[in-house]
Amino acid sequence: MYLSTEIPQISLRPLEKRDLPDLIRHADNPHIAGNLRDRFPSPYTEKDALAYLDMQPKVGLPQNLAITYSDQLIGVMGYIPQEDVYRISAEFGYWVSEDYWGKGIATAAIKVFVPWLFAHSDLVRMYANVFAFNVQSRRVLEKAGFTFEGLSRDAVIKRGVIYDEYRFAILKSDFHAD
Ligand SMILES: CC(C)(COP(=O)(O)OP(=O)(O)OC[C@H]1O[C@@H](n2cnc3c(N)ncnc32)[C@H](O)[C@@H]1OP(=O)(O)O)[C@@H](O)C(=O)NCCC(=O)NCCS
Repeated sequence: MYLSTEIPQISLRPLEKRDLPDLIRHADNPHIAGNLRDRFPSPYTEKDALAYLDMQPKVGLPQNLAITYSDQLIGVMGYIPQEDVYRISAEFGYWVSEDYWGKGIATAAIKVFVPWLFAHSDLVRMYANVFAFNVQSRRVLEKAGFTFEGLSRDAVIKRGVIYDEYRFAILKSDFHAD
C-alpha cells in the first residue's frame, strides 16, 4: 500500500528493512524523544531500529507507516488499537525528522493516514495525547481536524518533570461530516 499526500514528495508506506539507516539517523534525536513516551529510545541505536522494524506485523493492516520524502524514511506515523470496551478507539502517534520540521509534513501525513485507517478498520475514534509543552503537535492536530477534548492535569512525568497532557481526537463521523 502507498498513500500520497498533498505535498508531492511526501508519502506513506509500510516500513521496510531498507529503512534501517534512515530510521537510526532521524530517530536518534533527543528533541524527538523528548516529546514521546520513554519507550522511544534515546539514544536510538541500530539495535533499537532493528528491533522496531522486526516487530512490525508481517500480515494484515500495518500499524506503523514510514513517512517518506522521495521514498526515503523521514518519520513514522502509527496507531495502537485499544482493548476491551475501548476497542473502537486507537491511540495515534507520529514523529518527523527535525531536518524537515515546519514544512507541513506531519499535517499532510495525518490528513491521509486518518481516512486510510477509518476506511480499513472498524475503529470509530482516534486520539492523541500531547505533553502540554508540545505546541507544534497541538497545532498539527488542530490543522488536521482533530478536536481538543480536554487537559489531564499532572498526567505525565518526562525527564523528571511532571506535565499536564492535552487530549485531541477525531471521530469517523467527524471525518465523514467534512
Ligand atoms: C510535532 C511534529 C510531528 C510536527 O511536525 P511538522 O511536520 O513540523 O508539523 P507541521 O509543519 O505540519 O506543523 C507544525 C506547526 O507547528 C507550528 N510551530 C512550530 N513551532 C512552534 C512553536 N514553538 N510555537 C507555536 N507553533 C509552532 C508551526 O508554525 C506549524 O503551524 P503552522 O502551519 O500554523 O505555521 C514534529 O515537530 C515532531 O516530530 N516532533 C517530535 C515528536 C512529536 O512531538 N510527536 C508528536 C507527539 S504527540
